[in-house]
Amino acid sequence: MATSPLSLVLLSLFLSLSLHAQAQAPAAPAPAPSGPVNFTAVLVKGGQFVTFISLLNKTQTFNQIENQINSSSEGMTIFAPTDNAFSNLKSGALNGLSQQQQVQLLQYHMLPKFYSLSNLLLVSNPVPTQASGQEGVWGLNFTGQSNQVNVSTGLVEVQVNNALRQDFPLAVYPVDKVLLPEELFGVKPPSASPPAPATKGSSSGKSNSSDTAAEPSPGKNSAGGRNVALGLIFGLGFVSVGILS
Ligand SMILES: *[C@@H]1O[C@H](CO)[C@@H](O)[C@H](O)[C@H]1NC(C)=O
Ligand SMILES: *[C@@H]1O[C@H](CO)[C@@H](O)[C@H](O)[C@H]1NC(C)=O
Ligand SMILES: *[C@@H]1O[C@H](CO)[C@@H](O)[C@H](O)[C@H]1NC(C)=O
Ligand SMILES: *[C@@H]1O[C@H](CO)[C@@H](O)[C@H](O)[C@H]1NC(C)=O
Ligand SMILES: *[C@@H]1O[C@H](CO)[C@@H](O)[C@H](O)[C@H]1NC(C)=O
Ligand SMILES: *[C@@H]1O[C@H](CO)[C@@H](O)[C@H](O)[C@H]1NC(C)=O
Repeated sequence: MATSPLSLVLLSLFLSLSLHAQAQAPAAPAPAPSGPVNFTAVLVKGGQFVTFISLLNKTQTFNQIENQINSSSEGMTIFAPTDNAFSNLKSGALNGLSQQQQVQLLQYHMLPKFYSLSNLLLVSNPVPTQASGQEGVWGLNFTGQSNQVNVSTGLVEVQVNNALRQDFPLAVYPVDKVLLPEELFGVKPPSASPPAPATKGSSSGKSNSSDTAAEPSPGKNSAGGRNVALGLIFGLGFVSVGILS
């Protein structure tokens, strides 16, 4: 019995189904491992992360993070920019980013490993972030001594003083600046064309984050992809039932 291309297709579809099932896990009451962490609650309790929370929500990054925190054996470290940090950004800095780039910016604030404050001094720089693995480094550098740690992106350096939470599997450290990666905010080669010009040029005075709410299709791609995958799976399910019977 040769391994037919069809079985390979079925196998990969099965794998992608399990991935999708995982991604949808929040609907099911997970059989709690060692006490799952409610990352949203940690931030809400912090009281000064309204912008960060709404960005995580808008880009649908929350599920991915909580899933990873609940399932990773390494834990996670997150640098949470305060509302103050976001309001100190140049106006339009966020709105100039595409949805994908906003996700990258958020992922850049996360390390796929739990670090206590003192362990941040033992890392070897640059430390990969959740955004690493794409073109560019997307790393963070940590320097300092004793209880004083600085994190640097090359464009921005800020102190990491206190932890909002520092219990495995999740460490959350507030930062007073948004960590701007060189990959998004560094000097671009002259050939790169500027981001799409804003159509509403008159809104310079009030560039609130709600401006981006009008941007089209935030989550449509993934939902569409899921539907296609499910359709294929059902279709092939029928095919294989046909073969077996
Ligand atoms: C997590 O915390 C948020 C904010 O406090 C709350 O709305 C949500 O219901 C919590 N989720 C769970 C599963 O406890
Ligand atoms: C997340 O976004 C949904 C709509 O997309 C909204 O109903 C919900 O209140 C938001 N939650 C938070 C914590 O911002
Ligand atoms: C992770 O655990 C938190 C807290 O119970 C829960 O709110 C969240 O839905 C879980 N996420 C996933 C993807 O299982
Ligand atoms: C940390 O950064 C601050 C500026 O934000 C600077 O004054 C201080 O010297 C830096 N400390 C170390 C250990 O690099
Ligand atoms: C980060 O640290 C590495 C290794 O020490 C160094 O090569 C690199 O230039 C540093 N980058 C920044 C942005 O400080
Ligand atoms: C923008 O946000 C500021 C506070 O951050 C608020 O005072 C102002 O009314 C908002 N403007 C608009 C157009 O929403």
